[in-house]
Amino acid sequence: MSKIGRNDPCWCGSGNKYKKCHLDFDRKLSTFRGMGAEVPTHGLIKTPAQIQGIKESAKINIAVLDYVAAHIKAGVTTEEIDQWVYQETVKRGGIPAPLHYEGYPKSVCTSIDNVVCHGIPSPDRVLKEGDIINVDCSTELNGYFSDSSRMFCIGEVSPEKKRLVEITKQSLSVGLEHVKPWGFLGDMGSAINEFATANGYSVVRDIGGHGIGLAFHEDPWVSYVSLPGTEMLMVPGLCFTIEPMINMGTYEIYEDEDDGWTIYTEDGQPSAQWEIQVVVTEDGYEILSY
Ligand code: MF3
Ligand code: CO
Repeated sequence: MSKIGRNDPCWCGSGNKYKKCHLDFDRKLSTFRGMGAEVPTHGLIKTPAQIQGIKESAKINIAVLDYVAAHIKAGVTTEEIDQWVYQETVKRGGIPAPLHYEGYPKSVCTSIDNVVCHGIPSPDRVLKEGDIINVDCSTELNGYFSDSSRMFCIGEVSPEKKRLVEITKQSLSVGLEHVKPWGFLGDMGSAINEFATANGYSVVRDIGGHGIGLAFHEDPWVSYVSLPGTEMLMVPGLCFTIEPMINMGTYEIYEDEDDGWTIYTEDGQPSAQWEIQVVVTEDGYEILSY
């Protein structure tokens, strides 16, 4: 693998000698690789300086979602939410990462009821009592990316939908219990799937989370229906999203043929999603964006 000398500066940019820095770490990675594990490349492991940059970006992302939380209500259009997100992001020096991302036309995704994700804000969609909506915000600041989403219940919502929103939120805590160095992403994914299934729901399989930090979407792809001991090995500095989409009915979904973005549940039943961004630390994890 790496032909770096023991006394050379470490690849991580710490300025320390390799032997005092990531040498033991790399040996451990090699052992896991030898056992057939999927291990992260060095490029996916964020340095302390990069994590600091991501945190600055995430501060904006959190503030924007806080703004949405304080203002969202029946009578507001999803277009207005898009304008809030654009204005609140830009005034803090950030760029809404979704805007023009692979041709996406807006600054935020707004996904209501049977829309699973990637709903496009529109002046024609007025929020009404009983809606459940996911607002998914992503920010770029100085080349660092953050991404998180929250659910909002508009006015009085049916107990069934309220429970879906709550269980989906709880599933993040269930998954987080398994986020630690030298565990596997599949440990986290399977915990979420078991929790959702035990509560009578299903987890979307075809869309997942992702690595993030120096780009909006990086490796690894993150599943929430995976098996323990599978998927990528978690190591300190790995940064990714936990963003399960949990459906009241079938996990099957389809994409809107006309706009090429909106994802719906196949059976028309509601779907919920919460998203946080985490970094693996020496002894567990830190939540960067929520
Ligand atoms: N924010 C979404 C995610 O969690 C990505 C949306 S891509 C967009 O990964 F273009 F629709 F914004
Ligand atoms: Co995401």
